[in-house]
Amino acid sequence: MHLKIALLAGDGIGPEVTQEAVNALNAVAEFGSHTFEYTALRIGGVAIDADGTPLPDATIQGCLASDAVLLGAVGDNKFNTLPPSERPEAGLLKIRAALGGFANLRPATAYKALADNSPLRPEITEGADILFVRELLGGLYFGAPRAWDKQAGSAHNTMVYTEAEVERVARIAFDLAAKRRNRLTSVDKANVLETSQMWRSIVEKVAKDFPAVTLEHQLVDSMAIHLMNRPRDFDVVLTENLFGDILSDESGVITGSLGMLPSATLGGKVNLYEPVHGSAPDIAGQGKANPIGAILTAAMVLRHSAGLEREAKIIENAVVQVLDAGYRTTDIARGNIAGQQTVSTTKMGELVLDRVTADLGAAAS
Ligand code: IPM
Ligand code: MG
Repeated sequence: MHLKIALLAGDGIGPEVTQEAVNALNAVAEFGSHTFEYTALRIGGVAIDADGTPLPDATIQGCLASDAVLLGAVGDNKFNTLPPSERPEAGLLKIRAALGGFANLRPATAYKALADNSPLRPEITEGADILFVRELLGGLYFGAPRAWDKQAGSAHNTMVYTEAEVERVARIAFDLAAKRRNRLTSVDKANVLETSQMWRSIVEKVAKDFPAVTLEHQLVDSMAIHLMNRPRDFDVVLTENLFGDILSDESGVITGSLGMLPSATLGGKVNLYEPVHGSAPDIAGQGKANPIGAILTAAMVLRHSAGLEREAKIIENAVVQVLDAGYRTTDIARGNIAGQQTVSTTKMGELVLDRVTADLGAAAS
């Protein structure tokens, strides 16, 4: 397997966590006869500084010429006063649009070792395993017109979806549900929004092709509370762009830390992989960032772009082993708990890597 990977480390903790993801990929490459070839490209605040734009053409072209794009994080407080279209985040939205992936998979797994890290009681989170499928190219993020008319003293964004946009992401979500626990929860605001009413009708149409999957609809406000009260009841959760952004962050409460969450965006020209967390400028460069979200994102690269399911599972198991052994980055460390040890970003990466290498070696012999 030969894979060309565009590396967009980005801002803040992006470079630190991306390095650990690359190390995990390289361990897999070394053991199999795989070659992973990386091209580093700029995006976000670092690109504004170097190129005057959050997404240089060279980055778009480099990504389109690769088999997968691995992104760290974008965002830097020094650009906070810029309009949305000039901020680091605009680079991320533009690369998403350029690559064309519309189905953003955000798994949220409650690890037993981190049960006490969630403010929710362990018996609420234990065994929770949710796959959010967030529509990534429509809705308020991309709808036109959009503007802040300062003279008029008003601002507007447009929530728009086409039936085709809903159908294609719904098909992917149902497909995934059929391979998991056969449950799909579609989240909308159909008591208020026309886009949501259309969303619901299209999801129901697609459901007819997946008779084994049980479909339920939830309004986004009540879903926010159900997720905290009974997270184990959910399997695949399908929703539009902004609702998915909000609910997937909320699911960080179930897992104990946002730093644990990976994501993969499928369906376009080139798949885009990024941890769910942001650039965390307050801890950047201090070795405090949790690389697990990025490392689990590397596992998703193996699963969805390299067809290396076994190796993806080996990485995921290695993460479980390291957590079970008591190692924690600061975001998942809780006081002085016996048997727990707080480690740096690179140390956490090494610990996972050791177990990945051992498992690959055991599997090979
Ligand atoms: C995410 C982030 C992005 C989003 C931002 C950085 C534009 O919050 O990936 O969830 O809103 O999609
Ligand atoms: Mg978000």
